Amino acid sequence: MENNIEKVVIASDHAGREIKEDLKEFLIGMGVEVIDMGVNNDVAVDYPDYGSPVAEKVSKGEVARGILVCGTGVGMSILANKFKNVRAALVSDVYTARMAREHNDANILVIGGRISGKGLAREMTRAWLEARFEGGRHQRRLDKIAEIEKRNNGK
Ligand code: RB5
Repeated sequence: MENNIEKVVIASDHAGREIKEDLKEFLIGMGVEVIDMGVNNDVAVDYPDYGSPVAEKVSKGEVARGILVCGTGVGMSILANKFKNVRAALVSDVYTARMAREHNDANILVIGGRISGKGLAREMTRAWLEARFEGGRHQRRLDKIAEIEKRNNGK
């Protein structure tokens, strides 16, 4: 399978920085343009401050795909899924990373930097980038989620 994604926006907090840096190198090696929204040192920061710019760009359709890394991935995934049109998937295995695209059309991949090693993080990223959304019944299910999002907006 081939990757058809040309650009990815990426960010982490301090706990995810090492994996973020490694994934950046990996993506560039795959010919993907990477927009790095930080963090760029090991000083402790608050993950919403770094995840929000990524989720916002994906939410607005400025960039089609994003990757977020924090310690467990939980905080970043909770945050990202607050943004309209974002479908963020926290993954820790390659099968889930692939299915997150095929069935859930996940547009943000979230990885726990204290959970997954570099090799696994790279393989999950590759699987997610190369997989294709299957549409059909899965689109119907996503439409239902989008409807719920619309209904709950502002409440
Ligand atoms: C930071 O210590 C840690 O809480 C954060 O990286 C993340 O795991 C939160 O969900």
